[in-house]
Amino acid sequence: MAKQKTVKESEVVMTEMVLPNDTNTLNNLMGGKLMHWMDIVAAIAAQKHSNRIVVTAAADSISFKHPIALGNVVTLKAQVTRSFNSSMEVFIEVWAEDIPANKKTKTHRAFFTFVAVDQNGRPIEVPQLKPESELEKELFDGALRRRQLRLVLAQRMDPKDAVELKSIFNFQDGPPK
Ligand SMILES: CC(C)(COP(=O)(O)OP(=O)(O)OC[C@H]1O[C@@H](n2cnc3c(N)ncnc32)[C@H](O)[C@@H]1OP(=O)(O)O)[C@@H](O)C(=O)NCCC(=O)NCCS
Repeated sequence: MAKQKTVKESEVVMTEMVLPNDTNTLNNLMGGKLMHWMDIVAAIAAQKHSNRIVVTAAADSISFKHPIALGNVVTLKAQVTRSFNSSMEVFIEVWAEDIPANKKTKTHRAFFTFVAVDQNGRPIEVPQLKPESELEKELFDGALRRRQLRLVLAQRMDPKDAVELKSIFNFQDGPPK
């Protein structure tokens, strides 16, 4: 059986401060800058899980609900939710903190997918993930459906093969009321 690793072994927390160069004309953090930080923190988690070079294959479910203001401290936490053959899904959570006001808000979450590659850029097998806590198990279970959805949308999977994803939409007695 392939090697197994826990979530904790590769979890990463990264802290940044929003500086003037990171902002838009409303003095809030640029979305692209936040995505850059997300990509870095998540790539480090995927590297730690696989002990390999990793490339970003997909970034999804990012919504920009709360702006993050100039001067805020941004904390990003990344954890691998599940690994497949060469790919790993990473869950990222973001908090913005106004330290003088003593206020910390959870602002964003997202799922990124990384693929471990060899020196020639070819996908290579990664260790399996062993979820331990209830949340880790929940994220692990959902990862299969999210993988199928993103592969169908990327036209890399035939929708008829997305069995677990379809099961969410199959209602024997009509849709839920
Ligand atoms: C990601 C990449 C390595 C996949 O290579 P490939 O030759 O298409 O390999 P495969 O079809 O064998 O897929 C390899 C894995 O990638 C996954 N994958 C490929 N495209 C994906 C996508 N859009 N979303 C999620 N996973 C994807 C596959 O599901 C597969 O996972 P598995 O091994 O766990 O089953 C290749 O497309 C690549 O190098 N892309 C550019 C990456 C990059 O430069 N990122 C930075 C952004 S500019």
